[in-house]
Amino acid sequence: MTANSPQARDIAYLVHQQTDLASFQETGGTLIAKGEGVYVYDDAGKKYLEAMAGLWCASLGFSEKRLADAAYKQLLSLPYYHTFYAKGHLPSVDLAEQLIKLAPVPMSKVLFQCSGSEANDAAIKLVWYYHNAIGKPEKRKIIGRVRGYHGNTVASVSVSGQPHMVADFNLPLPGFFHTDNPNYYRFALDGESEADFATRMAANLEELILREGPETVAAFFGEPVQGGGGAITPPDTYWEKIQAVLKKYDVLFVADEVICGFGRTGNMWGCQTYDLKPDMISCAKALSASYQPISALMINEKIHQAMLVESRKLGSFGHGFTYGAHPVACAVALETLAIYAERDIVGHVRSITPAFLDGLKMLEDHPLVGNVRGVGLIAGVELMADKATRTPFAPEQKIGALVQEHCQQAGLIVRAIGDRIAFTPPLIITTEQIDELLAKFRQGLDGAWAELNTQKIAAD
Ligand SMILES: Cc1ncc(COP(=O)(O)O)c(C=O)c1O
Repeated sequence: MTANSPQARDIAYLVHQQTDLASFQETGGTLIAKGEGVYVYDDAGKKYLEAMAGLWCASLGFSEKRLADAAYKQLLSLPYYHTFYAKGHLPSVDLAEQLIKLAPVPMSKVLFQCSGSEANDAAIKLVWYYHNAIGKPEKRKIIGRVRGYHGNTVASVSVSGQPHMVADFNLPLPGFFHTDNPNYYRFALDGESEADFATRMAANLEELILREGPETVAAFFGEPVQGGGGAITPPDTYWEKIQAVLKKYDVLFVADEVICGFGRTGNMWGCQTYDLKPDMISCAKALSASYQPISALMINEKIHQAMLVESRKLGSFGHGFTYGAHPVACAVALETLAIYAERDIVGHVRSITPAFLDGLKMLEDHPLVGNVRGVGLIAGVELMADKATRTPFAPEQKIGALVQEHCQQAGLIVRAIGDRIAFTPPLIITTEQIDELLAKFRQGLDGAWAELNTQKIAAD
């Protein structure tokens, strides 16, 4: 690394997010210089197939000119305006209308924010606001799931179940609780069927609600498919049983569609794939294909009525961000939705899913791969030290990171979440590109396997 090179200046000046900052000071990172379709290129010109679409988000790949044109057009006509004090602009109205029409269950209104974290943070505030409005201020506890991920603001990370994101930040906030992680492959008891596992998950949720007191439990947050937990698809009958418990104890349900929304699971919404009936839905990422930062929180009429009560009482809805409903972001999101419809993106995902999932499943023959599970264009690959006994690797072996590293060498960007390798390629990926993804992944697995064996021989 030469002095004053981009890499050296990166180390000198930038705080990288979700990064081991100490080792980054020694090794530096990879600077991505440009994108083209499902590929990105680093600043040395090396090409990578981006099998994570960035952060589960660049649904239309990295070079959709129509989105750049939509942003430019909006920048020329109205580059900024807000939605405070009853003011607004047409792109936000058009986008809100479209989302309400697209919503998987009847929704009433849309609140635009800038990120998934903010949408979930706003949902938490509205859960509390709602219960104050209906005269149940003591109903304020919030339940998430172990390894769930809903964002990094103080509240959204509290509902997330990610220990390393709360440690030493003096979080989670009080009043946030976590129920089981629904990873069937890892946590099923011997001989337990998926349906029995789901029954146990729902019983544990019920036990938590009863322990805390149903009159104090306000809401449950869940992603249709857990992304940040490792791309974990729910076991059979899981959502049906979880929703029955929420209904029984009058607990609001917030579906976090930040990853699943807009086609990822083979339907427009994860809620449709798993028949979810939430009170609020947060979405972001593929809403604008991630070309602009924007998120949306959809709320049903029940919540909206409570907001009217509070507004009459307090004089205004005391919440808002300067950049919420930014017109350029709204214009880009509108164009994104137009592209999804014109190109039938959901149909494309469905047509390509077998090549993706069956292809990954074939890798279960690899000595490192214990289990492959996914839906639509999202999948998690569980690495195992001993498949027969379902024995995981010791965490300090960092086998997931090793596979990720070897994939990157092979020109494939994947994400290791512990020892699960996550895949969420751009939704526009073709069959040929899936073949390439699979070949490169096998190369990455082989590289990691060879290195592991070399380490073993050296240690013996
Ligand atoms: C399911 C889910 N919810 C919320 C978030 C937070 O979104 P953001 O990073 O835009 O704040 C993420 C981010 O990955 C996510 O995966």
